[in-house]
Amino acid sequence: VHFDYVDMEAMAPVVQRAAQLAPIPVALHLDHGLSLQTIVRAIRCGFTSVMYDGSEYPLEENIRRTKQIVDICHSVGVTVEAELGQVTGGEGGSKEGTVAEPSLFTDPQEAAVFVEETGVDALAVAIGTVHGLYKGEPKLDFDRLAEIARRVDIPLVLHGGTGVPDEDFKRAIQLGICKVNFYTQTSIAAVNRIKERLRKEPDLIKFPELLLEAKIGIKETVKRQIQVFGSVGMCDHPNPLCSS
Ligand code: 13P
Repeated sequence: VHFDYVDMEAMAPVVQRAAQLAPIPVALHLDHGLSLQTIVRAIRCGFTSVMYDGSEYPLEENIRRTKQIVDICHSVGVTVEAELGQVTGGEGGSKEGTVAEPSLFTDPQEAAVFVEETGVDALAVAIGTVHGLYKGEPKLDFDRLAEIARRVDIPLVLHGGTGVPDEDFKRAIQLGICKVNFYTQTSIAAVNRIKERLRKEPDLIKFPELLLEAKIGIKETVKRQIQVFGSVGMCDHPNPLCSS
C-alpha cells in the first residue's frame, strides 16, 4: 500500500545506511509482497526478509505460490513470512474501521500443513485483528492462537496491531506471537503532531518542520509499543536474535 508514496529502489540504500548505524540488529523487511516480481525486487534491494501474502488464494494455491517464493528466498539467505487465513481491513485507511470476520480466521490444522509444505520461516495468523481501525472492540480468539502455537513450531506474527489493548498484546505474546505489525497508530500520531503544530503556528511555511513533527509522533508511538511488547533492552544481552 505504500508503493504510491515511496520508490523502493531509491529508499532501500537510505534505510540500509540507517540500519548499519544502529547499535542493534535491524531486519529490512518487505511487508505484504503480493507478487513474485515485488519479492524479487526486494531481494535485489538487499532486504533481509520478506512477507509473501498469498492469503487471498485457496489453501493449495497459497501453498504452491508461497513454496516457490520460499525456495527462491532461501537460496539467497532471505527469510520468508507468509499469511494463512485473512487479516482484513485497510492499513492506515479510513476512520470508519473494520470488524474481523471469523470465517477467515486461521485454521490450526491447515496452519500445520501449510508450514510443513512451504518451509516458511514465520506465519502471520488471523485470530481477530484487522488492519487499520476497529469498528467496535477487537475480540481476539486466544484459544485458536494457543492451538496454532501447539501445532506449529515457527514464530507467529500478529498483523493489525493498532487498537489492540495492551493486555491482549501481552497475552498473545505469551501464547506465541513473536512479531507484531503496527502501523496505523503511528500514522495517526504523525498527523496529530502536524495538525497541532499548524494550529499553534498557522503561518508556518517550512515543510521540513512538519516532517520533524511527524517523526516525533512516530517515535513516541513506537517507544510506547516496545514497552508494551516487553522488548525493552532485548538486544542488551547475547541472544539468538542478536547473533543471527
Ligand atoms: P495496523 O495498521 O492495523 O497497525 O496494521 C499494520 C499491519 O498489519 C501491517 O502489515
